Amino acid sequence: MIPFSMRLRSMGSLALMVCVPAGATAAVAPERVPALHAQTRTDLDASMHGEAYAYATYALFADQARAQGLPSVQRLFQRTADVELGEHFAEEAKLSGLAGSDAANLRAATTGEDDESHTMYSTFAKQARQDGDTAAASLFEKIAKDEKTYHDAFGKALAVVRSGKGTVPAPPSVTPVSVRAGAPKVHADRTRQNLSTALHDEALVSAKYTQFAKAATAHGNQALARLFTGTADVERREHFAGAAQLAGIVQPTRQNLTTAINGEQYESRIMYPTYARHAKAAGDAQAAELFTRNANDETAHARSFENARNQLH
Ligand SMILES: [Fe+2]
Ligand SMILES: [Fe+2]
Ligand SMILES: [Fe+2]
Ligand SMILES: [Fe+2]
Repeated sequence: MIPFSMRLRSMGSLALMVCVPAGATAAVAPERVPALHAQTRTDLDASMHGEAYAYATYALFADQARAQGLPSVQRLFQRTADVELGEHFAEEAKLSGLAGSDAANLRAATTGEDDESHTMYSTFAKQARQDGDTAAASLFEKIAKDEKTYHDAFGKALAVVRSGKGTVPAPPSVTPVSVRAGAPKVHADRTRQNLSTALHDEALVSAKYTQFAKAATAHGNQALARLFTGTADVERREHFAGAAQLAGIVQPTRQNLTTAINGEQYESRIMYPTYARHAKAAGDAQAAELFTRNANDETAHARSFENARNQLH
């Protein structure tokens, strides 16, 4: 029997998605907290990290499959990505009470953007410069600047929501980074670790904003929904993708399928069954049911990816 920690390490990058990096943005404090055991809440947070990371990664793997002339694999990655975000993440977010009122969501967003621009990315940029990773330093500096802009936009939107006066700022425009298979473009271990933290953070923030956008739509605030959706897009298609390019996350499709299979098997065989057991023992029946359902979905995802890999020449 292989020790758990070793199995985790051998699972590839998707397995690492449940290890919340120290610098990652903490879960947003919801306004209405459903009565859940602390362990269930921790497990929900870890699963949301994993689902958000899987969504963002599979979207890039889909682009790589298209670039290689493999439309059926492209569709498989895109369809699976949509399940990870639209079903798994969304249902976990709902159960954990991630989205609250528009004001609460905006407060959480401004705090997160402030931490990212003033603490996380400014530190990462300085460290990358010291370590001679200039491309990473430039990316971190650019992201820090962007996060400051989003912080200000969310701050203005919060004032509008509170006062009922004024206009919610327009969403930022997106210039997607196109990521192709390639080796990591950084040298220092510290830069590599910081890129991993950035990737997990950006994936999570982007997924959270999609939920905040849904909440704003439900509250009848279309302008705020557009601001959250547009910002979610930049977080994923520029920040996550920019970090993914430097970190060498995307590889040729065969290898991407193997990475995906390892991640899905980890989730279906270890992560979700463990979380389901915790939730059952804690009396959180709804969470136990959700974790079990997701484990079954991940088993099916692993099989579909295996079939796709078997059909590659
Ligand atoms: Fe999932
Ligand atoms: Fe951000
Ligand atoms: Fe970002
Ligand atoms: Fe999955």
